[in-house]
Amino acid sequence: MHRISTALELTATQVEQVIGLAGLAPSLHNTQPWQFRILPHLIELHYDPARRLPAADPDGRELRLACGAALFNLRVALEGAGVRPVVTLLPHLAHATTLAEVRGGGRPEPRPVAVKLHAAIPQRHSHRAPFRDVPVQPADRHELLLAAQSEQCWPHVVTSGELGALEGLVHRAHQVQQADSRFRAELAAWTGQSTSAVDGVPTDAAGPRPEPQDEWVHRDFSGGLAERPDGVAHESGPLLVVLCTQHESPADELRAGQALENVWLTATSRSLSASMISEVVEVREIRDELRQLLGGTLHPQAMLRIGHGRPTVPAPRRAVGDLLLNGSTPT
Ligand SMILES: Cc1cc2nc3c(=O)[nH]c(=O)nc-3n(C[C@H](O)[C@H](O)[C@H](O)COP(=O)(O)O)c2cc1C
Repeated sequence: MHRISTALELTATQVEQVIGLAGLAPSLHNTQPWQFRILPHLIELHYDPARRLPAADPDGRELRLACGAALFNLRVALEGAGVRPVVTLLPHLAHATTLAEVRGGGRPEPRPVAVKLHAAIPQRHSHRAPFRDVPVQPADRHELLLAAQSEQCWPHVVTSGELGALEGLVHRAHQVQQADSRFRAELAAWTGQSTSAVDGVPTDAAGPRPEPQDEWVHRDFSGGLAERPDGVAHESGPLLVVLCTQHESPADELRAGQALENVWLTATSRSLSASMISEVVEVREIRDELRQLLGGTLHPQAMLRIGHGRPTVPAPRRAVGDLLLNGSTPT
């Protein structure tokens, strides 16, 4: 069991709160593949090699997206605690699990946008159930796109002309994954968790079991259990945003993860809900086809479905002490 250290002129209690908020980030199958080393003058973000998903994510691309999302939460949480975060991305260090380090850059008042995002961190959840059939307003859409761009990410809003082809790609990707016994075993190991589990997706947070006629949500986190009430159909026109990067490096993936979380928290702060549709970017050949569909220049990293959702159940998280790497200096 770790004792929490002080860092960046924050008290141990503040450090615990900041790391707790970082750990509320989204991650594939709720693996929470991040670790933190707390030092007096910096906080290091590491990935946890034991929490990789070799079948769904053989290259660790989505692991870095998740860690990028945790890094974004860490930045917002630090700003909320009065520390301006200065981030260095370090995903290329050979033989190391380090992804980034964050130092203090002064103690200005938090910006109003950071205050809003900070409040949204505990409210953000995956909403896999059908949304209400109400379109996302242009002003909301504008803010969501700005949130992605501010993290050096290009958000592609799927047009009505692209919808049919995209739906076909999502279906095919889903079929490729379902035909892979390793993928199915991995998904089964991380879903249908008991209520006492601290990771994975428990049945009550899974959303309803997808139905054959569903256009977008195909991945079943419910363990086949949670049927949805008769007559509740998926929204007819979700806002689908594909987050793209200019290149395809690990640093781009960390940027995409930060953009993902900025967009998702911005949506949450505006009372919008979101879920991810990842099969289309997980299957390499289909990701290439998606790239061509979107113009062939940028690299698609993640797809979000955004709309007006109904309340959902939060997925669990590990305790802060379990996220700390040995070497975090005790107070
Ligand atoms: C890279 C990445 C890919 C994800 N892909 C999917 C997906 O395809 N379908 C889905 O429903 N959720 C997906 N999620 C969401 C996770 O399942 C979710 O974040 C996790 O279960 C924790 O739940 P929460 O988002 O409610 O906190 C993904 C998350 C990340 C970061």
